[in-house]
Amino acid sequence: MSLRKLLAETIDNLYGYTQDDLIDLLEENGISLEDRQLDYYIGSGSYGDVYKVKGKNKVIKFTDNEDEYRKINWIMDAQESVKPENVVKYHFNKRVDDGLYFSIMEYLEKVDLSMSESVKKSMKMLERNVYSVLQVSSEENDDTISMKIEDLIDHLLDNRDATKEDIEGMKDAFEDIVENYDNIDIQILLKWIWDMISVLRTNEIILLIYEIDLMSDYFNDVINGIKELKEMDVWHGDVHQANVLKDPRSNKYKLIDPI
Ligand SMILES: Nc1ncnc2c1ncn2[C@@H]1O[C@H](COP(=O)(O)OP(=O)(O)O)[C@@H](O)[C@H]1O
Ligand SMILES: [Mg+2]
Repeated sequence: MSLRKLLAETIDNLYGYTQDDLIDLLEENGISLEDRQLDYYIGSGSYGDVYKVKGKNKVIKFTDNEDEYRKINWIMDAQESVKPENVVKYHFNKRVDDGLYFSIMEYLEKVDLSMSESVKKSMKMLERNVYSVLQVSSEENDDTISMKIEDLIDHLLDNRDATKEDIEGMKDAFEDIVENYDNIDIQILLKWIWDMISVLRTNEIILLIYEIDLMSDYFNDVINGIKELKEMDVWHGDVHQANVLKDPRSNKYKLIDPI
């Protein structure tokens, strides 16, 4: 019997169980849960427990977040038509009780990339920038982009402690970025860096630009995942480094954990 069928058949019995009872229940029903991974949100109060399903490329997540439950429903409705490449695939989503929900999704791997604190910090502002750029413009030419880069560098030169070498470094890094992203993504990245100017020191901004360039596969996928969610009318709401995992089958990075 498939995992999905098993859960669908036992769902009526789940009402009123504690999480430990649920785990016992699932195990009694032949679903072994291993590799328990707990990850608590700091500050938002949101909470989820994720378990690998033994012998399957699937995980189960229990959560008390109703918004997440609703967003997963939206994604499940839209994922067959949109066919996202950079959003985790969901198989199942169920309300057990008010305040307890669980979903089944494909198993993904943890991302093993070292990132500076500034990049981690910056990722929280990425979704907002994708939205604002997509809303304002659909297409701009390379002239405008190079002008924007000039503006950005001028701004740094005028207002910050940037040295001549810093500016040269930035120009080089920007050139690589322009090669590695398409127009709309460059605009998103520029808008993103622009937003970070007020929060980061000059050397952190330079590091950020270099890291974006070094991790262009990663950021291309994250930006595309946000765009795919937008196509499904879903605001992810919590894009950060722990909510990006890697699909070993397609070699793509995928967003998990919308809130
Ligand atoms: N599909 C998945 N495959 C593998 N591990 C996952 C999957 N989804 C979540 N995890 C792991 O569990 C952790 C917590 O899951 P997440 O959905 O982010 O919950 P929370 O709402 O507590 O942040 C993640 O950081 C990740 O390490
Ligand atoms: Mg998370």
